[in-house]
Amino acid sequence: MCLCSCTAWVVFTILSAALFVYISPKGGAPVKFAGVYTQPGRFYWVKLVAFYLLMRLRKWKDARDKNKMKDHTQMETYNSGYGTKSKNSPEEMDKVQPLSTHYQAIDAVYFNGANKDGFCIVTATARRPHGVINGFFIMSIPGVGTLVTPRFPDTLLFGGTDKVFGSEGLQFEPVVPMKHWKLTYSGELKLENDTSKRFQVKFEADWKTTLPYFDYDTMIPPWTMARAIAREPWSREYFEMLKAAHQTHYEQHGNITGKIQVEGKSYTFDIPSMRDHSYGFKREWKLLHRYMMHAFSTKDGRRFDTINVCQPQTSSHLELGYIYEKDGSLHPVEWLDLPLWNHGENGTLPSDYGFTFKANGKVHYVQVQVLHTVDFHIGWEWEAKIIERHCRFFVDGVEGYGVSECHYRDAGGRPAEFSAKDPDWVKDNSSLNQDNKFENLNQHEYESSVYVVDVLNHITDNSFIILFSSNESHVKENKNTSKLPSGGKGYPKSGVTQKLDVQKTSDVTGTSNASPKGQPGSQTASIQFIRMVNPARTPVIKERSKITIRGKKTFAFVSNPKIFLPKLFTKLIKRLESIGIAKSMPADIFDQRNALLPHRENLGPQLGVVKPDYLDM
Ligand SMILES: *[C@@H]1O[C@H](CO)[C@@H](O)[C@H](O)[C@H]1NC(C)=O
Ligand SMILES: *[C@@H]1O[C@H](CO)[C@@H](O)[C@H](O)[C@H]1NC(C)=O
Ligand SMILES: *[C@@H]1O[C@H](CO)[C@@H](O)[C@H](O)[C@H]1NC(C)=O
Ligand SMILES: *[C@@H]1O[C@H](CO)[C@@H](O)[C@H](O)[C@H]1NC(C)=O
Ligand SMILES: *[C@@H]1O[C@H](CO)[C@@H](O)[C@H](O)[C@H]1NC(C)=O
Ligand SMILES: *[C@@H]1O[C@H](CO)[C@@H](O)[C@H](O)[C@H]1NC(C)=O
Repeated sequence: MCLCSCTAWVVFTILSAALFVYISPKGGAPVKFAGVYTQPGRFYWVKLVAFYLLMRLRKWKDARDKNKMKDHTQMETYNSGYGTKSKNSPEEMDKVQPLSTHYQAIDAVYFNGANKDGFCIVTATARRPHGVINGFFIMSIPGVGTLVTPRFPDTLLFGGTDKVFGSEGLQFEPVVPMKHWKLTYSGELKLENDTSKRFQVKFEADWKTTLPYFDYDTMIPPWTMARAIAREPWSREYFEMLKAAHQTHYEQHGNITGKIQVEGKSYTFDIPSMRDHSYGFKREWKLLHRYMMHAFSTKDGRRFDTINVCQPQTSSHLELGYIYEKDGSLHPVEWLDLPLWNHGENGTLPSDYGFTFKANGKVHYVQVQVLHTVDFHIGWEWEAKIIERHCRFFVDGVEGYGVSECHYRDAGGRPAEFSAKDPDWVKDNSSLNQDNKFENLNQHEYESSVYVVDVLNHITDNSFIILFSSNESHVKENKNTSKLPSGGKGYPKSGVTQKLDVQKTSDVTGTSNASPKGQPGSQTASIQFIRMVNPARTPVIKERSKITIRGKKTFAFVSNPKIFLPKLFTKLIKRLESIGIAKSMPADIFDQRNALLPHRENLGPQLGVVKPDYLDM
């Protein structure tokens, strides 16, 4: 069943593997801008044509198998994007979707809009497992100010259902697919710039349209997508990532009309708006480095959206968008000249700038003037920083209004004052042992672990991941290894013997044979066993001296072969390889991971990844 749907990927994987083996650049890849953004390499043109052909093939196959079962909730059946539709009809798309089996499953809707009178609205709800909602409501009302949801700048809401989008007073419901949605908010809102001022608010609106929707799964021009993919280093893992990290995403412009009552006083509005809907196997905000989105409409009746996305593991420079002409016709953006690395890469966004893009055969010049900015965070660890900007636009001199939403990866964490308000079931850490908490790891290990966890998107309760790291500098400086950042317990010293149960019957015993501490060539290494304890929360690391590896869903992570490994680990990996649950990987996999680290000069522990067998096509 899966075989059929994946034929295009298989053909392509073979093709890319051939390219990878025979023509991968010898002289090293071109330098990445800001250490993140890959630049076209030696075989860019060959890869460009290859990916273009893949997209054509996928489109052709998708059109042929019209009635094929499409299910985004299982990795085995998930195959949307790059030319392949997620569902067989718009009716099947524009509704509450079932969540996937992944702990980061996603079904999200978003609405924004701004008009010349000064109204601006941005609101979204993302359905996540366990009734968790990433949700917020922001509205600027002339004469009142900018109102935001009570938990702001936090966005974790609880008590969602599988019937509607929203919770805690916020609710979005599809009425007529791709034509009409009902939006309501009822409850308290606070002034964004003076949070002591709180108002009782009732917001009721209809989102309506006669315009077609733009489906990013199938409507991105193949050359535009191919240009983004051809810049990246290709490997088998890369294409697996491309498939697993994909989310179906479609957008549509329309109007939001309705009224909002603030302390009994009523304000009516009619706002040109963009809305979107995303679903897929999972959403991992940590994969994203940055994006800048501009959605707006001009007074001559045209509507626009341009997005520039950097997700280093899949594409560090992806140009997206579309326009509606005055007659309502929809055209994709072919290219967008707004390189992220030239616009606020270090965290300060420009507020007076311009960009050009091409759509429907014409190049347009857009000037942006930022009027008002609101920022907040999304995620259990506030891993995504989102900046909503109410803007005035000039497209070839014609005035318009809209919203620019920008994103940065943030590693600052979620302050305790916010997590303290979470429901008890979230705080329940009784299954954890204080010593073994994920948070005890240093930032590098943490980032690495998250990467590792993400690659294995089938992680479920009781799956184990083995994570090795080593710290050379520590040994060179002859420091006390029991003070290593991730806790001394996990760092075997020279000569220590560890016994590991592998599937009960096959024990692995190894002796770390490193040189004595402090002498040249000596190594310390840590071994961590990660287990998903509460899938609704961040993965938690369980450190054990004895583990049992259960069944097939068990994976091992091997240290970078460039670094000397104590024999214990070499032996363990050999053993795991011999029973078919682990494999050493080449070192290039690290480049992708390192692109995610906030401080790229500090590479952290070196990790390798073992490919899970179920990703085999
Ligand atoms: C908050 O913003 C409004 C305009 O939206 C402004 O009139 C008001 O003075 C601001 N209040 C504070 C405390 O900055
Ligand atoms: C939005 O509303 C305006 C009038 O306020 C109308 O002319 C336009 O057709 C509407 N657009 C859509 C997409 O429904
Ligand atoms: C980036 O921002 C940080 C903190 O805001 C600052 O310390 C650093 O110098 C900046 N780097 C560059 C290249 O501007
Ligand atoms: C569990 O959480 C409480 C506070 O919510 C904290 O004091 C305690 O240390 C945590 N225990 C573990 C094992 O993480
Ligand atoms: C290493 O540190 C631990 C605790 O931090 C201490 O108990 C031990 O004596 C130290 N060992 C050496 C050799 O300094
Ligand atoms: C290795 O240990 C040194 C000294 O404790 C520390 O400064 C450094 O961050 C560690 N490196 C890694 C990659 O953990």
